Amino acid sequence: MKLIKFASITKKIALAAFGLFLLLFLPVHMGINLCLLREDGGEWYRNASHFMGTNYIVKVFEIVLLASVLLHIIIAIILSIENLLARPIRYKVKTKTKTPFMSRYMIWTGGIIACFLIIHFINFYFVKFDLVEGKYSAEMEQVDKVFQEKAVKLQQGELNEKEQATLMAQYQAISQIPVEKMDKSKKNLVNLSKEEVSLYYGEGFEDYEPDFYTMSKDLFANKTYSIIYLFAFLILGFHLYHAINSLAQTLGLNHKKYTPIIDIVSLAYAVLMPLGFAIIPLWMIFIK
Ligand code: HEM
Repeated sequence: MKLIKFASITKKIALAAFGLFLLLFLPVHMGINLCLLREDGGEWYRNASHFMGTNYIVKVFEIVLLASVLLHIIIAIILSIENLLARPIRYKVKTKTKTPFMSRYMIWTGGIIACFLIIHFINFYFVKFDLVEGKYSAEMEQVDKVFQEKAVKLQQGELNEKEQATLMAQYQAISQIPVEKMDKSKKNLVNLSKEEVSLYYGEGFEDYEPDFYTMSKDLFANKTYSIIYLFAFLILGFHLYHAINSLAQTLGLNHKKYTPIIDIVSLAYAVLMPLGFAIIPLWMIFIK
């Protein structure tokens, strides 16, 4: 039974194509994350995050990526339901795949990864859209700029009493900014709550961005989250191993010469990716 009128092979190819895109995204994401381990007070990681958050090509890539995640999940669910409905017939046919056991669990490992992504987006991604509150950073230079503009307005008698009081509070706050609120270069204020952004930069200031460095450190300081993330990385490993083998099969790369090589590549990728991600919480727990 076909839930959506495309041949199963078309759906499998689409599933593989979106999956392939996700496979390419993972090493980039991991590479950026590994900057968290540098002992540079977050400079590299914040620069990378700033680039990723402001570059227009990356923004287009991000939309394609999120669409790929969604389509990959939707097609996987449709194919699984179709397989389930076709089961009485399928059982009579012996499967040729080398990993039938794991293939049956792909929908479950995928489901766990989807749950992880929901948690992950709540932890980080949704902060960009103000759906959850996080920690923020903004340029130090902007503090002076905003303050000077208001000071001119004060001199010209354009501020009412409330605005004058707010300006005084801002003056007091910026004259005693604690060192932990500055990054190493002293060019940015970091680790700021929303109230602190308003306090230092004034109400309505919008030129700030999520401070993913502080947020990652705070997240992995929490053991429960570290364990949830480590568990998700382990499951990701199982999912990736079968995913690459299955992708090769869909692309027709099954050949007695290539299959062992593909198997080694799948295994290497499936071990190295989760390990690369896992180093971050492990480092934060045991070394920091
Ligand atoms: C130590 C592990 C990880 C950390 C610290 C981390 C951190 C982050 C951060 C800070 C963002 C927001 C970046 C931005 O939008 O500028 C993000 C987004 C995202 N993460 Fe992760 N991540 C980790 C692991 C993973 C894993 C294993 C996956 C996939 C299974 C993943 C998938 C995504 C996706 C799809 C996005 C949204 C797209 C994007 O912003 O590029 N992350 N992650």
